[in-house]
Amino acid sequence: MTGCPIRTDARDTYWTWEHASDVHELYRRRTLGQEEEMTAHSQAADLLAERVKPGDTVLDAGCGSGIFYHSLVKRGIDVEYWGVDATASFIEMGREILPKFGLPSERLLHATFDDIDGEVDHVICINVLSHIDNYHRPLERFLKMARKSVILRESMKHGGQYQYLPDRHLDEGADLSVHVNHYDLDEVRAFIVDHGFNSRLVTDEHTGGEPYKSIDYLHYWSFLVADRKA
Ligand SMILES: C[S@@+](CC[C@H](N)C(=O)[O-])C[C@H]1O[C@@H](n2cnc3c(N)ncnc32)[C@H](O)[C@@H]1O
Repeated sequence: MTGCPIRTDARDTYWTWEHASDVHELYRRRTLGQEEEMTAHSQAADLLAERVKPGDTVLDAGCGSGIFYHSLVKRGIDVEYWGVDATASFIEMGREILPKFGLPSERLLHATFDDIDGEVDHVICINVLSHIDNYHRPLERFLKMARKSVILRESMKHGGQYQYLPDRHLDEGADLSVHVNHYDLDEVRAFIVDHGFNSRLVTDEHTGGEPYKSIDYLHYWSFLVADRKA
C-alpha cells in the first residue's frame, strides 16, 4: 500500500472566490473607497441606522474585505464593526487597507459561519446565503448570535429554487459552479419567526424588487429585516 490517497488541502481549489481576479480587483478599489457605494450597502446601512444605539456591535457576516465598513463611516453610524469571511485573500485585503480608514485589522476575522459563535447586537449579511448550498445553518447561527437584529439581503421569492450553475466570471481554467439559490420568502420568514424575531420584507432599492441578472443569472434580491421580539 502507498500513502493516503486523499488530500485534505483542496478547499481553496474548489472555492470560487479564490479564483476571481476581476472580483478581487473590484473589491480592492471598493475597499480603497475608489468606487461608488453599492446601493445594497447604502440601503443596509440606512436600515441598520434605524435600529442601532451608539457603541452597538455589528457583525458583517460574509463581509468580503469589509467594504461595508465605509458605509457606516460615511453616515457616522457609531458602532463597533466586525467582519467575518471564509475567503482568506479578502480578509488579508481588508486588514491591509481598512486600518488606514480607522478599522483595527483584528476586527476582520477569517472564519466560516460554522466556526463562529458569540454575541453581537446586530448581524448584517449581504449577497452571501444565495450563493451557498443552503441558508438554515448560517441563518440559525446569526439569529442565535444577534441580541437585537439581523438584516439580510438575499435572493428570495415566492417558491424556492435551488440551482448549481457554471460561474463564467472566474479566471481562465477555473471550471467551477456556483450556487444560485432563490429561497422561499415565506419559508425564510417562518424560520426567522420560529427563532424569536419579527420579520419585515423591504423592497430592494437597487433592483426595485424586479428580477435582476447578477453573474449572468436572474436573482430576486430582497431585504428581510428581523428584529428580536421583546
Ligand atoms: C458575493 S460576496 C459578498 C461580500 C459582501 N457581503 C459584500 O456585500 O460586498 C460573498 C462572500 O461570502 C463569503 N462566504 C461564503 N460562504 C461563506 C461561509 N460559509 N462562511 C463565511 N463566509 C462565506 C465569501 O467568501 C464571499 O466573500
